[in-house]
Amino acid sequence: MTKVVCPGSFDPVTVGHLDIFERAAAQFDEVTVLVTGNPAKPSGLFSIEQRMELISQSIKHLPNVKVDSWSGLLVDYTTAHGITALVKGLRSSLDYDYEVPMAQMNRRLSGVDTVFLMTDEKYGYVSSSLLKEVAKYGGDISGLVPPAVYKAIQSLKAKGN
Ligand code: PNS
Repeated sequence: MTKVVCPGSFDPVTVGHLDIFERAAAQFDEVTVLVTGNPAKPSGLFSIEQRMELISQSIKHLPNVKVDSWSGLLVDYTTAHGITALVKGLRSSLDYDYEVPMAQMNRRLSGVDTVFLMTDEKYGYVSSSLLKEVAKYGGDISGLVPPAVYKAIQSLKAKGN
């Protein structure tokens, strides 16, 4: 049984992330989307619980995908849960440069491998931070986030956030 984790901040989850979850679900037996704290991004638009709920609503069509959260070292989670590999999307050389040290550190710490899937060309420019900025200034992000996320962002904007 191959158990993998897709880790990330997911603030919020995008259609690019969802594409990676779907492709991981087709390759591996069990996929856990793990909402993980990133010390470089201390405060977010959505709480960890809200991010998990938005992911849950977006993966209903994927029976072998579940969501969890973790606030410690990623490798402590993967070791405790018998995870075979981490699965991440790569959009560009910027992602590559950011991901390589983490992949090597995680492997050094625990032996866990990281499998990279090339982001679909349709989603190469999609990032949570860019979408938040576009939405903040009134730009249209429909089609770039799952419907549940679109609704949640509209509702935050209606409340003046
Ligand atoms: O979506 P992000 O913010 O790029 O994801 C980065 C994330 C959450 C995967 C990374 O910050 C992480 O692994 N955090 C957990 C703490 C940890 O294990 N840090 C050491 C990484 S080598």
